[in-house]
Amino acid sequence: MESVLTFVRLAEEISREAGEMLLAKRPARPEVLATKSSPTDVVTALDRASEELIRDRIRAVRPGDAILGEEGGSTGDGRVRWIVDPIDGTVNFLYGLPEWAVSLAVEVDGEIVAGAVNVVPRGEVFTAGRGEGAWLGGERLRCNTGVPLGRALIATGFGYEAGRRKVQAEVLAQVLPRVRDIRRGGSAASDLCSVAAGRVDGYFERGPQYWDYAAGGLVATEAGARIGGLGGRPYNPDLTICAAPGLFEELHDLLAPLDPERDA
Ligand code: IPD
Repeated sequence: MESVLTFVRLAEEISREAGEMLLAKRPARPEVLATKSSPTDVVTALDRASEELIRDRIRAVRPGDAILGEEGGSTGDGRVRWIVDPIDGTVNFLYGLPEWAVSLAVEVDGEIVAGAVNVVPRGEVFTAGRGEGAWLGGERLRCNTGVPLGRALIATGFGYEAGRRKVQAEVLAQVLPRVRDIRRGGSAASDLCSVAAGRVDGYFERGPQYWDYAAGGLVATEAGARIGGLGGRPYNPDLTICAAPGLFEELHDLLAPLDPERDA
């Protein structure tokens, strides 16, 4: 089996290629091609083109690998599986806001070992390899430590369905008075990289899918953050919490009694 760093380099290279294509082809006003869970959960032609490019590149170099992609679903059944979000932050992409990313993670035997998150408009590619650290270019990343909840800048996001958003607003109303402030960037992958880089202190969200957080989660944990769900469960689409140890527990204990995994 190839080394972790081989997978990191390949994920980075492919995420850069997809990013270049997206920058070159993004029209001034991308059109919505389809909607998914709600009328505001959109897909553009370039989400699909990006995933096709990524799948072609993976198949060309590693034809036996499995792929799980946001747009194309699951294919193949190799020991190595790629987790692909061709554009995380599609609404930002649609509106021309500079916070969207190509996110690629690599699993070997079910464990995420490598990840690359290319925040394309900012020209920043975050990478991580299991046991090899998290990096932004030549800079090794370390999340902020020793920040108490009351001084923590916390990133979060909201789902696409009204019932979920109603509960998320209720939860947020309880969180907001207890933290420094909240940021809603619009890309879960990028939010997790911001935890890694110390640009926010923590992150929580209900709803993001595996492809949204697989690569960013590795970047954050390799930068020293803890990531998990409620009550000791692994992080999952019901709830993902990420912050340095200490703040993680404070944030978890604030969220748990608010029952944040429900929908109205
Ligand atoms: C979304 C983004 C957003 C988060 C949503 C995700 P998409 O992914 O990561 O930040 O709040 O929950 O669905 O739809 O742009 O790939």
